Amino acid sequence: MNSNKSVDRYAVVGFPVKHSRSPFIHGLFAQQTGQQLEYQLLEATPEHLNNEVTRFFSEGGKGLNITVPHKQAIMGLLDTCSQRARFAGAVNTVIKLPDGKLSGDNTDGVGLLKDLQYNLHFDLKNKRILMLGAGGAARGVMVPLLEASPKELVVANRTIERATRLVTEFESLGPITAASFNDLQHTPFDLIINATSASLQGEMPMLSPSVVGLNTLCYDMAYGKKDTVFTLWAKQLGTLQAVQGWGMLVEQAAEAFFLWRGIRPDTEPVLRILQNVAEQ
Ligand code: ATR
Repeated sequence: MNSNKSVDRYAVVGFPVKHSRSPFIHGLFAQQTGQQLEYQLLEATPEHLNNEVTRFFSEGGKGLNITVPHKQAIMGLLDTCSQRARFAGAVNTVIKLPDGKLSGDNTDGVGLLKDLQYNLHFDLKNKRILMLGAGGAARGVMVPLLEASPKELVVANRTIERATRLVTEFESLGPITAASFNDLQHTPFDLIINATSASLQGEMPMLSPSVVGLNTLCYDMAYGKKDTVFTLWAKQLGTLQAVQGWGMLVEQAAEAFFLWRGIRPDTEPVLRILQNVAEQ
């Protein structure tokens, strides 16, 4: 629907997509920065992705966010991709360039890093990091995590072969190893990131409690109104910091907004509003 042709139009495309917080977040960014834009939900099944994206841009759309399950498939519809999107094997932001070409980028990794470093004041240098999961969500943040010079990054996955494959791809970039959940009888890690989709199913990977200490930052990329199974598990083990991925959501959106509009919104008030709304 093109309600106002003079206003730049953006959308998030996914299936399903009605739960997406992106219109709310980008609406707040636009208000804060005085930008005139419209941001819609665009639902597209995998079979209709091509048609919907082509139609959106032919009707003057300026940019898209891409969410589940299209982050890989969208790559086949683009003219160019950033290096970080190619490394991630996924695109979450599409920009229509002035010459009409479609360019893909991935702001998830930088979103996570900004949340850790600026919002949570966690310096990754020389830290021991445990990544739970070896799917798309984990892959998307491998490069920035390794670029932050951790002491070690252990990728643990239910299916060990998948963790091993991921590690092989990224081992030239830093100290990264693969493990199964059973292998993890370590002293506590400094940071544990849950990138499995287990939380979404209300499940918790079978992990030894020994990996969590009082000062372990336990970070779930998933987010919801209440604690996720992972943040609850971490709190019960006594960690002082168990955090959901609201900050990553807002920071990756801010980076996309910057790619489209050339202006960096202030994320702090938006994150506060979003967390307050989520708690109601
Ligand atoms: P995404 O794009 O969200 O990462 P994905 O690529 O399907 O989705 O990956 C899902 C990840 O969650 C995988 O690491 C998966 O483990 P497997 O590779 O063994 O399938 C993990 N996962 C999903 N459900 C899980 C569960 N109940 N317990 C542990 N790990 C789980």
